[in-house]
Amino acid sequence: MNIIEIENLRHRFADGTVGLNGIHLTIWQGSLVIIVGANGSGKTTLLRHLNGLLNPSEGSVRIAGIPVSEDVRGARQKVGLVFQEPDSQIVGETVAADVAFGPQNLQLDPEEVERRVSLALASVGLTLLADKAPHLLSGGEKRRLALAGVLAMEPKIVAFDEPFASLDDSGIRSIVAEITRLKNSGYTVIVTTHDLEPVLSQADRLIVMQAGRVVKDGIPAQIADAVDGFGVRKPCKCGWPTNWRK
Ligand SMILES: Nc1ncnc2c1ncn2[C@@H]1O[C@H](COP(=O)(O)OP(=O)(O)O)[C@@H](O)[C@H]1O
Ligand SMILES: [Mg+2]
Repeated sequence: MNIIEIENLRHRFADGTVGLNGIHLTIWQGSLVIIVGANGSGKTTLLRHLNGLLNPSEGSVRIAGIPVSEDVRGARQKVGLVFQEPDSQIVGETVAADVAFGPQNLQLDPEEVERRVSLALASVGLTLLADKAPHLLSGGEKRRLALAGVLAMEPKIVAFDEPFASLDDSGIRSIVAEITRLKNSGYTVIVTTHDLEPVLSQADRLIVMQAGRVVKDGIPAQIADAVDGFGVRKPCKCGWPTNWRK
C-alpha cells in the first residue's frame, strides 16, 4: 500500500521563493526512503507538507489515502517529524515531561499518557534519564528525545530531517540504530541527509532533489553512484556497506 501519495505538489513562500516545483511521489508503507539534495533543494519544505505544517500552493498530499488538507490533525498523528534542530522541539522541563507533552495534547487519560511515555523512553534508551533536564543531554540524546516525543504519538511514518547533522560518531551510530529499529518494526521511515554513508545500506530507496523537484529516484545500488554534483557526500567504497565506522 502507498502510505504517502504526493501529486503535483508546489509550494511558493510568501516572499515568492519557489520551495517545491511539482513533486510527484508515492511511498510504500514500511519502506526506508532517503532523500538527498543540496541546501535549498526543498527537502525540509517537502517534509513539512507531510503533516500539514505547510499548505500546498498547488497539488495535494495524501497520507493513508486521506488528503492532509482535509485532516491536519490526523496527518499530525500519522506522521512524526524529527526536526533538524532538536532544541526547537524540546518543550518540557524534564525528559519525561517533554515526551508527555504530545499525548497530553491528545487529551488522553493520565494512565495512557504514562504508558506511552515509558514505552517511548524505553524504546530510545532514555529511561534512566527520565527526570533529567533536557538541556543537559548530549546532541545524540536530544535527537533521541525528539524521537521519543514523536513515537509517543504512535505514528505510522517517522521523518527525520538531517538527523546526522552536528553529531559525533557515537551520536550518529545511536541514530542509525534507531532508524534501523524503526524500519524493522514496520514503520515507514524517511530520512533527509547530506551524508549517505551511515544509512545507505539500510535504505530501500534513494531520492535526489534539486531546485524543488525530484531528479532521481530508485534503488540505492542504482542511484548512489549518480549523486555527484547534488551536494551529497557519497559513501566510501572501502568498507561500504557493512563496515561503516566499526
Ligand atoms: N520561510 C521561507 N520563506 C522563503 N523561502 C524559504 C522559506 N523556507 C525555505 N525557503 C526557501 O525554499 C527553498 C527550499 O528550502 P528547504 O526546503 O529548506 O531546502 P533544504 O531543506 O533542501 O535545504 C530554498 O530556496 C529556501 O531558501
Ligand atoms: Mg533542510
